[in-house]
Amino acid sequence: MADQRTIIVTGCSSGIGAYCVRALKADGWRVFATVRKFDDLAPLEADGIEAFRMDYSNTDSISDFVRDVTAASGGRIDALFNNGAYGQPGAVEDLRTDVLRAQFETNVFGWHELTRQIIPLMRKRGLGRIVQCSSILGVVPYRYRGAYTASKFALEGLSVTLRMELQGSGIHVSLIEPGPITSRFTANALAKINENIDVRNSVHASDYRRQLARLDGSAGPNRHKLGPEAVYAVLKHALNSHNPKPHYPVTTPAKQGLVLKRLLPADLFYRLMRWVD
Ligand SMILES: NC(=O)c1ccc[n+]([C@@H]2O[C@H](COP(=O)([O-])OP(=O)(O)OC[C@H]3O[C@@H](n4cnc5c(N)ncnc54)[C@H](OP(=O)(O)O)[C@@H]3O)[C@@H](O)[C@H]2O)c1
Repeated sequence: MADQRTIIVTGCSSGIGAYCVRALKADGWRVFATVRKFDDLAPLEADGIEAFRMDYSNTDSISDFVRDVTAASGGRIDALFNNGAYGQPGAVEDLRTDVLRAQFETNVFGWHELTRQIIPLMRKRGLGRIVQCSSILGVVPYRYRGAYTASKFALEGLSVTLRMELQGSGIHVSLIEPGPITSRFTANALAKINENIDVRNSVHASDYRRQLARLDGSAGPNRHKLGPEAVYAVLKHALNSHNPKPHYPVTTPAKQGLVLKRLLPADLFYRLMRWVD
């Protein structure tokens, strides 16, 4: 269909991305989904979604994807949903700099690179929506998530600046700020702590044990967790509204965190956040 709207969604092997591409397709979008692994292409294609491989930490793979999706869409990209990311847990003093750099490579620099390469296609047509899947940790800090928090704070800074710079161009930029959402995110974070943090020899060893129990689920379910459909509800608004919002917090803890940050003096707010687990 010539008037079918097109969207790129990254990180579609699981969680929010996997849910949103199927919901977008059901809502009539032509969807270009990206995954990192070859084996993750087939389940998307089986559901009628055009799937590509792209890894944010590899500049060539971003350029190759943009070349291929430009050819597939005839240069018509209506929307970009940057979503693929991971969380590297660990106390700031326990983070090796190369581990912090890797976190930024995927969560910030890769997103910037893909966005930069898609904006010219949108500018040519004088329209577009760029939606960034940030996090409540892009607005409020969280202990033992310094790398991830810093990457999402950086993303917020770049994205609100971009939003202002694109005003009048027909291209709108929005940030989604979820709290806990059901996905593989915590399982992937658990793998990253085991891979990159020397838990046993850290001064934070006892805190890590509590964190690890939370990440592997043995501390019990998080009653505030919502499904990825909660993210899709606001994604739809960001894509369809005449006046998309700059920020879309999702889940009760995310909304509470924003209100408390606004109301409390900074010192009191950070003391309070110290006890959030
Ligand atoms: N779940 C939450 O509680 C929560 C809360 C706030 C914000 N978020 C944000 O929501 C977004 C989606 O996460 P999710 O919850 O759906 O987690 P998820 O199930 O772990 O999905 C993350 C996706 O990102 C992909 N990814 C990881 N590194 C990548 C890279 N270098 N290049 C391209 N893709 C990469 C993963 O691919 P592989 O399968 O190949 O690893 C996977 O498809 C992220 O931006 C995350 O920060 C999640």
